[in-house]
Amino acid sequence: VIFQQAKFFTSAPSIRHLPEDKGIEVAFAGRSNAGKSSALNVLTRQNSLARTSKTPGRTQQINIFELDENRRLVDLPGYGFAKVPLEMKVKWQKSLSEYLQERKCLRGLVVLMDIRHAFRETDQELIHWAVASNIPVLAVLTKADKLKSGARKSMLMKAQEAVPAFGGDVDVIAFSSLKKTGVEALEAVVQSWFQD
Ligand code: GTP
Ligand code: MG
Repeated sequence: VIFQQAKFFTSAPSIRHLPEDKGIEVAFAGRSNAGKSSALNVLTRQNSLARTSKTPGRTQQINIFELDENRRLVDLPGYGFAKVPLEMKVKWQKSLSEYLQERKCLRGLVVLMDIRHAFRETDQELIHWAVASNIPVLAVLTKADKLKSGARKSMLMKAQEAVPAFGGDVDVIAFSSLKKTGVEALEAVVQSWFQD
């Protein structure tokens, strides 16, 4: 697929409003402010495809981008944002788990986590759901530019050591939207998921 061809397709307020379950979908998930929208923009070489923001919780809808008529990238709303009412958090977790369990066209999940705070509770939960549904996971450690090279390597190693515990197809890369670190690795993995 040609990522540069990504076009905004639609926004869905919830899982029930997603387009028909056909073709291939790759989803981007992670805590609020983890850098999901930024990573999508880097991947598609479009600075303003997905809206990014300094305010956590910016992406509140499920935003869907189309690469071609059979392939979509999905920017999921971030979780773990403190100011969101508990009721909404519970609802969102429930619909995320449904999405991971029921969406047949979902071929891979990119879980983005700040390299300084990887594998927090909800991240782990999400990965467990994906593994249970046989969906491959790429853990992307974002904002790698915020650490010096030594600290970056040790956080990456620590994350790699945490992976076997999930018992599924889970890979880890370090990434920076700012410095464009890890872009080729992200591209290669997502590209492989889009092959049928
Ligand atoms: P929500 O939509 O709120 O869930 O957030 P998001 O995960 O989509 O994060 P977004 O891409 O909007 O980025 C959040 C903030 O982090 C913005 O201020 C970005 O500029 C910043 N940011 C994202 N990626 C990087 C990175 O690689 N390095 C640095 N230094 N900052 C980054
Ligand atoms: Mg976003």
